[in-house]
Amino acid sequence: MKITTLLSLFSAAAALPATSNTARASISKTDGAKFNIDGVTKYYAGTNSYWIGFLTNDNDVDTIMSHLQTSGQKILRVWGFNDVKSIPGSGTVYFQSFSGSTATINTGANGLQRLDVVVKTAEKYGIKLIINFVNNWTDYGGMAAYFSACGVSSNAQWYQAAKCQTMYQNYIKAVISRYRTSTAVFAWELANEPRCNGCQTSVLTAWIRKTSDYIRSLDSDHMIAIGDEGFGLTGDGSYPYQFGEGIDWAANLALPNISFGTFHLYPQSWGTTNSWGTNWITAHAQLCKQTNKPCLFEEYGVTTASDHCPVESGWQKTSLTAKDSGMAADLFWQLGDVVKSTGQQTSNDGNTIYYGSSDWKCLVDDHIKQIG
Ligand SMILES: *[C@@H]1O[C@H](CO)[C@@H](O)[C@H](O)[C@H]1NC(C)=O
Ligand SMILES: *[C@@H]1O[C@H](CO)[C@@H](O)[C@H](O)[C@H]1NC(C)=O
Repeated sequence: MKITTLLSLFSAAAALPATSNTARASISKTDGAKFNIDGVTKYYAGTNSYWIGFLTNDNDVDTIMSHLQTSGQKILRVWGFNDVKSIPGSGTVYFQSFSGSTATINTGANGLQRLDVVVKTAEKYGIKLIINFVNNWTDYGGMAAYFSACGVSSNAQWYQAAKCQTMYQNYIKAVISRYRTSTAVFAWELANEPRCNGCQTSVLTAWIRKTSDYIRSLDSDHMIAIGDEGFGLTGDGSYPYQFGEGIDWAANLALPNISFGTFHLYPQSWGTTNSWGTNWITAHAQLCKQTNKPCLFEEYGVTTASDHCPVESGWQKTSLTAKDSGMAADLFWQLGDVVKSTGQQTSNDGNTIYYGSSDWKCLVDDHIKQIG
């Protein structure tokens, strides 16, 4: 969903300290076209919280994760990036800043130490995290935050410019090195909704191959995913099935160091109908089955509040019952809760499903019961 340096701290790819055999047994993995979490292969459910790493109170993170655990939510996708072009006021969280031609990674108390709290708390509650490295969109910086520092002016150039990719890989290495052995990491993710409008699909496929190989060189244990919307595959020819955003979904899924497929569903933004979503889910499920890799239905949402339960529970059922065709898990967009220390509700973008609401009962409690 698009919501609203030490350049070279580390030298070339040298494998980070490896995981012990005991820890490795509890690292989430694929099992054919399914996920195995803590030794159990089954269908899983979860949600997205782009904001949880930007909270500044440890107890707030704890409360929210405890709600996920008691609700049976297992996978949580979070932003592992927060890129800025100028350093914000003290206390405001950011993870990387750009100045002149330099990138500086913020490992301070208002930097990656906030992500440390998310990972530690996830370990405590048995929540598995998808940690994403950069945004296609400008929310929390995105690729555009790198532009002037690495001398490009578009996302299309960013994917291909050596200097941008060195900065991006340095950032990836800084994050992975902190959580290399954590059992709370479900997967590393290349980007949120990477697109390369009007590009040959080979541009993104080459970038995905290079980046996933790089991540694999640092970490031989955790899964790796793309984080794309699922565009570019054979279907009814409507906009999302087309290849114009630079994604060839099947080709990318087949890349050797990509562990599973991701896709999103936003009919309102894509000019399709809600019921169109059914085939969108099964089309991806079939390709996952063919490739023998799991499909993660990674984001889905509608902004009409009265549609939350009926429309999204229908998509969940399609995903769950298509599970023998390669569907392995779904994550709704997005998690809502109350930040206890301030008493304020978390971000409401119209898609938000708040803990304890009737929508939560429908899309979380009832769904978890159906999964069994
Ligand atoms: C995301 O990617 C698409 C395709 O390249 C582009 O049209 C869009 O502007 C990008 N978003 C940003 C904020 O650059
Ligand atoms: C996956 O990445 C590793 C590490 O970079 C690389 O050695 C390997 O060749 C890649 N796998 C394949 C099958 O290309």
